[in-house]
Amino acid sequence: MKTAVIGCRPLMTLAGAPGARRGADLGRVESIQDGGLLIEGQVLAAVGARAEIEALIDPGTEVVDLGGRLVLPGLVDAHAHPVFGGERVAEFVQRCQGCSYSEIAAAGGGILSTVQRTREATEEELVEGAHRRLSWFISHGTTTVEAKSGYGLDHETELKMLRVIRRLASEGRIDLVPTYLALHAVPAGQTQSSYAEEVVRETLPVVVREGLAQYADAFLEPGYFDADTVEFVLDAAKAAGLGLRLHADQLTCSGAAQIAARLGATTADHLEQTGAAGIAALADADVQPVLLPGSVLGLGLSHYPDARAMIDAGLAVVLATDFNPGSSPTVSLPMVMALACRYMAMTPEEAIVACTINAAHSLGRSHDRGSLEPGKRADFVVFDANDPREVPYWFGTNLVRETWIGGVRY
Ligand code: NIG
Ligand code: FE
Repeated sequence: MKTAVIGCRPLMTLAGAPGARRGADLGRVESIQDGGLLIEGQVLAAVGARAEIEALIDPGTEVVDLGGRLVLPGLVDAHAHPVFGGERVAEFVQRCQGCSYSEIAAAGGGILSTVQRTREATEEELVEGAHRRLSWFISHGTTTVEAKSGYGLDHETELKMLRVIRRLASEGRIDLVPTYLALHAVPAGQTQSSYAEEVVRETLPVVVREGLAQYADAFLEPGYFDADTVEFVLDAAKAAGLGLRLHADQLTCSGAAQIAARLGATTADHLEQTGAAGIAALADADVQPVLLPGSVLGLGLSHYPDARAMIDAGLAVVLATDFNPGSSPTVSLPMVMALACRYMAMTPEEAIVACTINAAHSLGRSHDRGSLEPGKRADFVVFDANDPREVPYWFGTNLVRETWIGGVRY
C-alpha cells in the first residue's frame, strides 16, 4: 500500500547528519518549499520536491493533497507521566489561591494523592484514562511519548503501571517509550532507604526480566530523595542494563546535574536551578538536558531553565511537556515551544529541533524518527500554517489538522 502526500508547503524535513543537534546546528531546520512524501507501509519511501514525488505515483498509489500546508516531523515528547488514576484539579485551585506545591504535598496532596488513586485503579481503568489523554497528545501533533511509572510506589502498582504502558504501546497508535520512575516520592510508612532497598531487591529485577522499561528515573530533591539514595538505585538500574534519566535541580540547586553526569545518565530533566558548574558537568559527560517550561508555568513560578547557556555550552537541548496531573497538566508541545521562545530565549527553529530530532535522540530513537527522511517512520504533522515560526507564535491555539503515525492518518 503506497500513499503520496503532496502539497506540503513548506515541508520541514530536518534532514541531515544523524543524531542530536547542538550549538548553531540546533537552529537549522532543513526544508523543501513545495514538498511531498511517499509512504510505503509504515515507512517513508521517498521525500522530495512535489514533482519528484509525483513522478513516483503509479496506479496503485493513493494521493493525498494537503493543499499547501506546513508539515513537520511528528513531535516527540521525551518526558511525560501519562498514566495515573484520578486528577488534581482541586490542587490547581489551591495553587491559584497562593498555596505552593510543597505546602500542598506536605498536607497530603501532591504526588502521594495521585499514588492513592493509582493504587485503587484497575488496569482497565488506567488504560481507559490514558486512552483519553493519549488522544489529546495525538491531536496536538505528538507521535512518540515517553511514559513514566512512579505513581505506584509499591511493587505491585509500579508493575501494573508498566504493564499498562506496554499494553498501550502494543496498540500501535501513538508510540510509547517506557521509563521505570523508581524513586518519585517516599511512600507512607517507609523511609528513603527502606523503599530504595525494596526497589533494588524486588521490583527492578522484574522490570528488567520482563523488559518493562528502557530507562530508570528518580526525583532528586530535598523532601523527596537524596543523592546517596538516587545513586544507589540508579547505579543498580544501569548495571541491569537500563538507560538513566533524572529529575534534577527542579526546585533547588542540589548538584543533581553533576550527579546525572557522574552516573552517565542519558538525560537530566528540569534543570530550572542549574548554574554554570552543573551545565559544564553535563557538557563534559554529554548528558542531554530535557527542559520542561510547562511545569514552571503550571506551578506559577517564574524561574525558567537557562537554555541559552546550555546551548552555548554545546548541549543537545530537548524540550518536553512533563505532562502530569500536578505540576504540568499540558500535552501541548507547541505550547511548550511558545514558553521556550518567550521565557528561555530560544528561537522557533531551535524549539522545533528540541521537540523532534533532539527529543528522539534522547529516547534512543533518532535512527527511525525525528526527521523526515527515506527509511524513517512516516510520522508527521500537518499544520494550518505556512511558516514553522507560526507554531510557537499562535500560542495556546491548536493549529494541528492531521497527525500521521506510522503512515496512518489521525
Ligand atoms: O516532573 N517532579 C516530580 N514529578 C513531576 C510532578 C509529578 C506530580 O506532581 O504528580 C514533575 O514535575
Ligand atoms: Fe516529571
